[in-house]
Amino acid sequence: MWLRSSWGLSLLAVFLLLSLFTAHSARHSKASSPWLTYTGDVPIVAARGGFSGLFPDSSSSAYAFAYIAGSPDTVSWCDVRLTKDGVGICLPEIIMDNCTDITYAFPDGKSSYVVNGVPTTGWFSVDYTMKDLSQVFLKQEVQSRTDKFDGNFHILSVEDVETQVKPPSFWLNIQHDMFYKQHNLSMTNYLISLSKRVIIDYVSSPEVTFLRGIAPRFRKSKTQLVFRFLGQDIIEPSTNQTYGSLLKNLTFVKTFASGIIVPKEYIWPVTSDLYLQPHTSLVSDAHKAELKVFASGFANDVVLSYNYSYDPLAEVLSFVDNGDFSVDGVLTDFPITASEAIGCFSHTNKNTSVNAKPVVVSHNGASGVYPGCTDLAYQQAVADGADIIDCPVQVTQDGVLICMSSINLMDDTTVTKSPFNVRSSSIPEIQKGLGIYTFNLTWDEIQKNLKPAMSDPELEYVLVRNPRFTNAGNFMTLSDFLAFGKRNKALAGVLISIEHASFLAEKLNYSITDAVISALNQTDQEVLIQSSSSAVLTKMKQKTKCKLVYKVDESIGDADNSSITDIKHFADIVAVQKQSIYPQSLAFITRETGLVEKLQSARLSVHVYLLKNEFVSQAWDFFSDPSVEINNFVNGAGVDGLITDFPGTAVAYKKNTCAKLSDEDAPGYMRPVQVGGLLQLIDPQAQPPALAPMQVLDVSDVIEPPLPPASLIPLNSTVVQNAVAPTTQPSAGQRCSAVLSFLASMLMLIGYLVFV
Ligand SMILES: *[C@@H]1O[C@H](CO)[C@@H](O)[C@H](O)[C@H]1NC(C)=O
Ligand SMILES: *[C@@H]1O[C@H](CO)[C@@H](O)[C@H](O)[C@H]1NC(C)=O
Ligand SMILES: *[C@@H]1O[C@H](CO)[C@@H](O)[C@H](O)[C@H]1NC(C)=O
Ligand SMILES: *[C@@H]1O[C@H](CO)[C@@H](O)[C@H](O)[C@H]1NC(C)=O
Ligand SMILES: *[C@@H]1O[C@H](CO)[C@@H](O)[C@H](O)[C@H]1NC(C)=O
Ligand SMILES: *[C@@H]1O[C@H](CO)[C@@H](O)[C@H](O)[C@H]1NC(C)=O
Ligand SMILES: *[C@@H]1O[C@H](CO)[C@@H](O)[C@H](O)[C@H]1NC(C)=O
Ligand SMILES: *[C@@H]1O[C@H](CO)[C@@H](O)[C@H](O)[C@H]1NC(C)=O
Ligand SMILES: *[C@@H]1O[C@H](CO)[C@@H](O)[C@H](O)[C@H]1NC(C)=O
Ligand SMILES: *[C@@H]1O[C@H](CO)[C@@H](O)[C@H](O)[C@H]1NC(C)=O
Ligand SMILES: *[C@@H]1O[C@H](CO)[C@@H](O)[C@H](O)[C@H]1NC(C)=O
Repeated sequence: MWLRSSWGLSLLAVFLLLSLFTAHSARHSKASSPWLTYTGDVPIVAARGGFSGLFPDSSSSAYAFAYIAGSPDTVSWCDVRLTKDGVGICLPEIIMDNCTDITYAFPDGKSSYVVNGVPTTGWFSVDYTMKDLSQVFLKQEVQSRTDKFDGNFHILSVEDVETQVKPPSFWLNIQHDMFYKQHNLSMTNYLISLSKRVIIDYVSSPEVTFLRGIAPRFRKSKTQLVFRFLGQDIIEPSTNQTYGSLLKNLTFVKTFASGIIVPKEYIWPVTSDLYLQPHTSLVSDAHKAELKVFASGFANDVVLSYNYSYDPLAEVLSFVDNGDFSVDGVLTDFPITASEAIGCFSHTNKNTSVNAKPVVVSHNGASGVYPGCTDLAYQQAVADGADIIDCPVQVTQDGVLICMSSINLMDDTTVTKSPFNVRSSSIPEIQKGLGIYTFNLTWDEIQKNLKPAMSDPELEYVLVRNPRFTNAGNFMTLSDFLAFGKRNKALAGVLISIEHASFLAEKLNYSITDAVISALNQTDQEVLIQSSSSAVLTKMKQKTKCKLVYKVDESIGDADNSSITDIKHFADIVAVQKQSIYPQSLAFITRETGLVEKLQSARLSVHVYLLKNEFVSQAWDFFSDPSVEINNFVNGAGVDGLITDFPGTAVAYKKNTCAKLSDEDAPGYMRPVQVGGLLQLIDPQAQPPALAPMQVLDVSDVIEPPLPPASLIPLNSTVVQNAVAPTTQPSAGQRCSAVLSFLASMLMLIGYLVFV
């Protein structure tokens, strides 16, 4: 209405109108922004010491790689320390012992000082001039990370980082102001003089007095001051209050800072056994107090809360895309993961139909989350959106087909702690040493006395899976599995994997193939049969219309043409190991083999196994990020399917909003890594050993004698009273139905007669 008088607007009114308009549009853009950050802007990614998950913290390569591999606007975070001559350098710790090789350069250089009230011994930067430090090299301080890049990088001054790396955005973290004062060095003077030469986007400090002191100087600048919270019980040295109590006084913090940075547990607390608790109200409280909130402590190669199932990208998402709030930025050692989460995995429409490729095939159900092949593992796989769930079929003593990841119950059940511990035997055809085999216990004995056991494949690195559920869930028979599959129409199919068939036929006179064929009438879903035995697949090809998956169970570098011709006789899909696509030496990828292309040009689909989320299972080249690994197998190697313990991670990958972009349009962090690229950055003397030539698959590896004839009679008919005589009745309309042969009918007849 007042707009009608706009002819008479004074300059003041124009100003007011403009400011109203901008205020309005700012609000509007916040309202229409999908981001629940303080401003509605995209959360920032700050790289702690650069890409310190890979290169030594604060090295030139770490800083450069952060925005080359991550998002181009990744913020470079530098922990500033002062030298004796007052030069600001970037170093992750105040003690230089572990992040540099100074103990070699200056063996007698150890000192003892009091730092924030704590007597501390080690090598301190205040004892050395910048010139002294030119003899010192950076090294990786986290022992679980590769040391192959150590010794290549000098310590950088803040200005070196600015001139050599030209970071798009700079964050200086300043601590121990009082300590430097005791050494007659002034952080404040340093910072103020630096700010005249270098654009500083953020300055953070955990010290109230320091920030309050510089606040007036920076009030008119674009530099944002951020108060850093340390552990809740740690005492802030200038106020003598704990950080936990300062957290209750955000209006006070607002008087000298425009944001806060908190350890991530302030926002998503975890229990002592590492499970997530409900999030706190910190982010919304701070936003109400007009403070931005940054979360720190993100790294891919640590034990995350078990709720994230070892997927570090899922963890970032819980801070930026949870429906309630978003932090304004994250501080991470692995900036690529946060960039992916923010750029491509946030605000996905859970309902969008996704590309058919790659097919996501579970491995023992979602065995990364629950004990393999249990009802829980299969329910989780379906909830995760797996395309195909799998049953490794085994037979019990009384002839019941069950889903069990291993024929040896010691691998996946509590049998060794049960009375059946005594039923062990040595069967060299199956494995070295003792085993307690599925065919030595009846189904009833298994169900009543054993519990499932979580597979913890990375136990040697002390990485366990979802420990609250170590023995949870119920075992499943093949019938239960097929019925479960049938109820879940979203599945593209089910996979039955058959191993040890010739052993069972030869030594126990039991035909597991015929038993599976007879069970197939229970489903009208697409069934895939997987085996590492060509004899099994050849038989299934003759008797069923199932899709057939040949599992190459050793790592190969190539397959000769005749072996491929042969495989085509009995398989549609070939499952190969990760190493057969990207061979590794000391976890560095050496090359890409070309096997995928070769198999595909023979019109065989290729599935890769076995994908796991635990960071120790991935090559360094993939940055301890399962999504980077998946992206390489899909967009780099071009596989058709992923076989995984963690279908949730693979399905989230398929739904990412950048998946449909062409290679040129995709952001850099979503392009496949350059295969073998890291190896080239390692010094010649430090190179990992050259790989022995890899095996080439040839016809002799593939061809097998046909399965010996065997019966359908349960292995120990004396224990079978109400024997479930397996049958081979085909039913009309099955997509993968048993093709009744004369032999099969005869077998059925014999089996029937025996049990009547
Ligand atoms: C340096 O590394 C050693 C060995 O891992 C560790 O015991 C020590 O606490 C580390 N020192 C610092 C200052 O991080
Ligand atoms: C700092 O300066 C004062 C006065 O000049 C001097 O007494 C003191 O020894 C100096 N301290 C250090 C650690 O250099
Ligand atoms: C903090 O506590 C210490 C020891 O109790 C005391 O010496 C110091 O003066 C206190 N500082 C402030 C700012 O209250
Ligand atoms: C907040 O901190 C200021 C400065 O230390 C103090 O004066 C004030 O009483 C505090 N307020 C509360 C509610 O604790
Ligand atoms: C984390 O997982 C545990 C165990 O499954 C569950 O009880 C808890 O609710 C989960 N936490 C969150 C925040 O979802
Ligand atoms: C997704 O599908 C469900 C069930 O069909 C529906 O209730 C929901 O509104 C859909 N969500 C979106 C974002 O389309
Ligand atoms: C397990 O079964 C195999 C095959 O029937 C048999 O040879 C072995 O003796 C059995 N072991 C035990 C402990 O029953
Ligand atoms: C499968 O075939 C057997 C034997 O003919 C029959 O008893 C059973 O009901 C069939 N099951 C289904 C689901 O058709
Ligand atoms: C194998 O097959 C490919 C494609 O058909 C062909 O180019 C190549 O020459 C063959 N190699 C040999 C050794 O026959
Ligand atoms: C296997 O079982 C069938 C059916 O009972 C029997 O006819 C045959 O002789 C058995 N074969 C061997 C090698 O024991
Ligand atoms: C068959 O079962 C009976 C009764 O449980 C048992 O005594 C016998 O050892 C079993 N035979 C084999 C070969 O497992």
